[in-house]
Amino acid sequence: MQKLAIQGGTPLRGEVRISGAKNAALPIMCASLLSSDALQLSNMPDLHDVATMRKLLEQMGVKAAIQGSEMTLSGAHIDKLEAPYEMVKTMRAAVLVLGPLVARFGEARVSLPGGCAIGSRPVDLHIKGLQAMGAVISIEHGYIHAQVPAPGRLKGAHFFFDMVSVTGTENLMMAATLADGVTVLENAAREPEVMDLAHCLIAMGAKIEGAGSDTIRITGVAKLHGATHRIMPDRIESGTFLVAAAATRGSVMLHNTRADILETVLEKLQEAGAHIRMEGDGIHLDMAGPLKSVNLRTAPYPAFPTDMQAQFMALNTIALGSAMMVETIFENRFMHVQELRRLGAQIDIEGNTALVRGVEQLEGATVMATDLRASASLVIAGLVAQGETIIDRIYHLDRGYEHIEAKLSQLGANIRRLK
Ligand code: UD1
Repeated sequence: MQKLAIQGGTPLRGEVRISGAKNAALPIMCASLLSSDALQLSNMPDLHDVATMRKLLEQMGVKAAIQGSEMTLSGAHIDKLEAPYEMVKTMRAAVLVLGPLVARFGEARVSLPGGCAIGSRPVDLHIKGLQAMGAVISIEHGYIHAQVPAPGRLKGAHFFFDMVSVTGTENLMMAATLADGVTVLENAAREPEVMDLAHCLIAMGAKIEGAGSDTIRITGVAKLHGATHRIMPDRIESGTFLVAAAATRGSVMLHNTRADILETVLEKLQEAGAHIRMEGDGIHLDMAGPLKSVNLRTAPYPAFPTDMQAQFMALNTIALGSAMMVETIFENRFMHVQELRRLGAQIDIEGNTALVRGVEQLEGATVMATDLRASASLVIAGLVAQGETIIDRIYHLDRGYEHIEAKLSQLGANIRRLK
C-alpha cells in the first residue's frame, strides 16, 4: 500500500493551479446518460474517483475519450442499466446514475451504498423523490430497482427534502429534466456544484430555474442534446491549499479558482490571522503574524463546508487558544482526531463537538488516513510537525486530490510517495 512521507517545518511558498472540482465532475459525467449526443467536458481533474466513474459509465455502454483534461462522453449506445456493488462501494457518487437512467430508459438497478467511515449516509431521499415522480422502487438483494410504469416516463412532482442533500438534489434534478411536466425541488442543496451541474444540463437543452437557491423548478423536455461544458474549480482543493499555507506560515497564490464560492472558508482564514487578496481567478494568502484558533460549525452551503472541517482542525491544533468545532452534517466525521492526537494534538470530543486546544508544536509520527478529507488534515499536520510523518492508506487522497504531492513539492514541501 502506498504511503506519503513528509518532513515538516517548511513554509509553503509559491504558486499552484487548482484543478476542476471532483464534486462537480462526477454528477456532470452522469449527465451524459441523459442524451444520445456527446457531452464534451473540459477542466476535468485527473482523480481516482473520475476514473472509477468513467469505468462505471463505460460498463453501461457510454463511449469515453480523454485527452489531457478534456473528456468526451457519448451515451448513444447504453445497454446496461446497472451500477454494481463493486463500484458503488468504492465510490458513493455512483448512485448519481440512478436519476438519469430512470429518466431516459425507465429503469435502473443501482447497488445500495453501505455505510462509510464518516457515517451511515442513507439514500432514502433519492428514492422518495423518484417515487414522488412515479417510479416504482423495490430493494432487491441489496440493489435499488427502479421502474417507471408504461409509457415509461417520469412525471413532474413537488418534492420537499427533509434534509439538505447534495447528490440527492443532483439525482432528482437530472431525473426531472426528462420528466413529463414541472418538478419543484424544495429545501434543495445550494452548493455551487449543483449550480455547475444545472449549467451543464441547461447547455444540453434542459429547462431549469433557481439552481443555487433552495427551490429549483425544472420543466421536463422530450430530449436533451450534446453540449460542451467547463468544470468549475475545486473549492475544497483550494481551501485545503490555503489552510496548508496558513498552518505552515507560508505565502501562496492559487490560480484557476474562485473566491466567491469560498466565502466562509476565507473569512475563517482571516479570523485565524491570514491576509487574503483576490486577483482575477486567483487567491493569494499570506500568513505572517500569529495563528489564532477559530471556532466553526459545519452546515449546508453557503455555511462552512463539512469537507473543510478536518483541515481546519489541523490548523487549530497548533493555533493560539482553543477552538470549538461542531460537525452537523455527518455523525462520525472526527476519524482524524485519533490520528492527530498521535502527532501530539490536544483534542476532546463530546458528541458532535470537538474542543481543540492549540499546542506549540506537533511531532511527526506514523498515522493512517481514514477518509478523503481526514487524509488532507493529516497532510497539513505532517507539513507543520517536527520531524517525519508517514501517512498510510493514501489511496483516499488520490480519490479527490489531483497530484497532491507534486503540487505541494512545487510549493516547497518536503514530501514523497513511498511505493
Ligand atoms: C456530498 C459530497 C460530499 C460532502 C457532502 C456534504 C459529492 C459527490 N459528495 O455528499 O463531499 O461531504 O455532500 O456537503 O458531492 N442524507 C439522508 N438521506 C439521503 C441523503 C442524505 O439522510 O437520502 C443525509 C446524510 O446522511 C448526511 C446529510 O444528509 O447526514 C447530507 O448528505 P448529502 O448532502 O446527501 O451528502 P452527499 O451528497 O452524499
